Amino acid sequence: MTNLSPEKTTNKKLIAWVNEMTELCKPSDVYWCDGSQEEYDRLCGELVESGTFIALNPEKRPNSFLSRSDPRDVARVEDRTFICSATEEEAGPTNNWREPNEMQAELNGLFDGCMQGRTMYVAPFSMGPLGSDIAHIGVQITDSAYAVVSMRIMTRMGQGALDVLADDEFVPCMHSVGAPLAEGEKDVIWPCNADNKYIVHFPEDRSIWSYGSGYGGNALLGKKCFALRIASAMAKDEGWLAEHMLILGLTSPTGEKTYITGAFPSACGKTNLAMVIPPQGMEGWKASTVGDDIAWIKPGDDGRFYAINPENGFFGVAPGTSYKSNPAAMDTITKNCIFTNVAMTDDGDVWWEEMSDEAPAHLIDWQGNDWTPDCGRPAAHPNARFTAPLEQCPSLDEKWDDPKGVPVSAMIFGGRLSNGFPLVYQSENWEDGVYMAATMGSEATAAAENQAAIRRDPMAMLPFCGYNMGKYWQHWLDMGNTSDKLPKIFRVNWFRKDEAGKFMWPGFGQNMRVLKWVVDSINGRVETEAGALGGVPKYEDMYWDGLNFSTADFDKLMDVQPETLHREAAELKEYFVRFKDNLPASFETARKKQEQ
Ligand code: OXD
Ligand code: MN
Repeated sequence: MTNLSPEKTTNKKLIAWVNEMTELCKPSDVYWCDGSQEEYDRLCGELVESGTFIALNPEKRPNSFLSRSDPRDVARVEDRTFICSATEEEAGPTNNWREPNEMQAELNGLFDGCMQGRTMYVAPFSMGPLGSDIAHIGVQITDSAYAVVSMRIMTRMGQGALDVLADDEFVPCMHSVGAPLAEGEKDVIWPCNADNKYIVHFPEDRSIWSYGSGYGGNALLGKKCFALRIASAMAKDEGWLAEHMLILGLTSPTGEKTYITGAFPSACGKTNLAMVIPPQGMEGWKASTVGDDIAWIKPGDDGRFYAINPENGFFGVAPGTSYKSNPAAMDTITKNCIFTNVAMTDDGDVWWEEMSDEAPAHLIDWQGNDWTPDCGRPAAHPNARFTAPLEQCPSLDEKWDDPKGVPVSAMIFGGRLSNGFPLVYQSENWEDGVYMAATMGSEATAAAENQAAIRRDPMAMLPFCGYNMGKYWQHWLDMGNTSDKLPKIFRVNWFRKDEAGKFMWPGFGQNMRVLKWVVDSINGRVETEAGALGGVPKYEDMYWDGLNFSTADFDKLMDVQPETLHREAAELKEYFVRFKDNLPASFETARKKQEQ
């Protein structure tokens, strides 16, 4: 069914690359994706036929599918993720590095014949609205139809992207599940390579090679591989930012519109914040979603920073998502979705932990086994996901698809810190803000009796920065010299606990109160007070209608002890050493100031 027809593209480099990869991978067919609904439906039908998809009950979950992955292929594989820049120093101390020629030679060996017995799909896609100046084009070659239909939800995939591409440059994204089929061999439900996975980035060539996994960020190469790792390297060279950030619109009761971005490490509730609903007492406010995971930010002609969400869908963690925690997400995933590694109900719908207060009496778990509430196993895998079109989100912002992007007035950075760190503080200027963001920490595990270990996750980009983290910090500092209308920078912490281990801040919708203060502060309506770490709100400048929160509680929540500052300064001293000469000079100055 080879359907390479010259009218699909005139891009010589693309045609040559596809031919070269066909020769290398030796698929039985080559298929160019047009991105149409008809094509999507047909591929989903084929996936149902092969057993990779289970069609869910059309009355409960129309046009939606459940997929169960191989249990050895359930998450991003950070230890198998490589940044193959020319030198190890370019990749920096936070990335795995391999010499690029050596790595390429090994990959050529792995990809040789890796698609035997399979169809090779060519899926062109745009990260960002078609034709946007901020957007970029990639082309994924893959032997996974699951990856193709997922990419159609997560990106603007198909002929439209080829038309925008014309004869220009694209990011080649090479993907194989690494499971060739011998003549007559029957396929498995979730082909992958259990023993050998490689997620490889060549930042200088701007190319990606992914082998052995069919899951999420390992296989949907537009997301973490392109939109963060490769794009961060492009952004450094070209003077923009590719960030692990949600984008949120905030509309006040008077109609004033402010856009903010927010960087949070994985598993800190980014999708919840991207779809936040103002709490009781703040009914006049509106929050609207532009994106929940990635922001590409470029300086505009007017000196402001403009952000687009390069994605076209949500790839959200299912467990924990409920009408209580995130009603907008629940309404987004009612139809046209792909669910992976969730549990299935007896009436052909989906379920996962915390979706409802009470678990159903019987389920089929994520591995296809019978499940009952007392069986002692989770029904859904903790990293089970929904893949859902952005357009189905009820809180979608009116400018979600605007090629110009949205102007960013503030950036907030927040980890999960149960000890010592206050609810919110503002940096004095861009340079201080970059330091605040770069030194962000988050708890990896919460040991009950001890201070939990803090993993530094600069700008929430630790697993996603495609080059030397020290140079990335310098790039952020340099971006501060490009404009006099820079976004203001804030740190937040929703997760502080008291001595009894109870969260001190209610979180979820109540976080809108912090965002309102952020908006008031950037618009000059309130003055910040000097705090130990930055500018902090006065109690009376926070909006409290609808929430009982005393001055004493607020003081406790905002308190910063000298020990916290000393511990931070000491830990950071050790941490910074790793970055050697690439550490921006201003960082050590800021650290010393903190120490004093
Ligand atoms: C994600 C992540 O899947 O950050 O978005 O891990
Ligand atoms: Mn993420």
